[in-house]
Amino acid sequence: MRNAECVKQEYENLWNSLTGTLLAILESGEKDLRSAVIELDYQMYKKSESSYIETYKHYRPVLFDQEVFIDDPETFLLISTNMLYSYIGSLFTISNEFNFERIVDLGSGWGRSIFNIYLNGAPKNADYYSLEMTESGRLLSRFLATLEPEMKHHTEYFDFYNPDFSCLNENRKTLVLTAHAIEQITLVKESLFEAILNIPGLTHGIHIEPVGWQMTNSKTERNYDHVKEYQIKHNYNQNLCSVLNSLVERNLITIEQVLKDVYGFNPLNPSTLIIWKKNDNMGITAPDV
Ligand SMILES: C[S@@+](CC[C@H](N)C(=O)[O-])C[C@H]1O[C@@H](n2cnc3c(N)ncnc32)[C@H](O)[C@@H]1O
Repeated sequence: MRNAECVKQEYENLWNSLTGTLLAILESGEKDLRSAVIELDYQMYKKSESSYIETYKHYRPVLFDQEVFIDDPETFLLISTNMLYSYIGSLFTISNEFNFERIVDLGSGWGRSIFNIYLNGAPKNADYYSLEMTESGRLLSRFLATLEPEMKHHTEYFDFYNPDFSCLNENRKTLVLTAHAIEQITLVKESLFEAILNIPGLTHGIHIEPVGWQMTNSKTERNYDHVKEYQIKHNYNQNLCSVLNSLVERNLITIEQVLKDVYGFNPLNPSTLIIWKKNDNMGITAPDV
């Protein structure tokens, strides 16, 4: 199992190490949220550039379930991020159901996902919540949000192991999002999802998590063994798919879309996109005790 205290310290340090970078971006007179997000993303890549270059000697990065050749990681980072988030953003345009009043990112880090979603077509007048365990992550997302004064952005402390959604008590149409955050919880509890489903106005969930290897009906030409091995070695999440399947069996949610390996800048940790909808047949019953 991943050790919660070590994970917290690791990310507290990582996000702290980006604070100076972000302050320098802001002090340089940057006024554009999109440019600041791209720059921060690139600086994050730079911190682990050598490990990426080593990985690329053996495995190719992945985009929409295809292995791709890259000459220039910086350009690939930009293109692949844009492709993923403009795909998700297009759902806000094409689906009448995606008229959310509240978008909640769990384990939001510095806000990479929630800002990319905001910038790519999510409703501008919704309230955006970055819920994150680390103080440094919450601080970075607060700094970034100053670039977009119109954005109704909020940050709160959040812990997957002890989920508290009391800051979301108004009944407003809500989307919950996680991106490489449940990956940090080796065995996620079904009760986390029962709490999510009880958020007033919650209708949909989106996960961008490296869980394609957990799908038993996975059809892929590619060899997946190295991904599975990497995920197990790092104690990354091992049961998100089975928990979601159990919620489907309990008739609590319907899985609307699964796109395997949409984004694998790190080929050993490729994101699968899962979109589910809460079934409106309930009143979720209290879990057995
Ligand atoms: C890989 S980062 C992803 C951050 C962000 N979602 C993104 O898309 O860039 C993992 C995040 O999960 C957070 N996290 C890890 N364990 C957590 C927990 N128990 N509760 C809440 N957040 C947690 C970390 O602090 C970190 O910000």
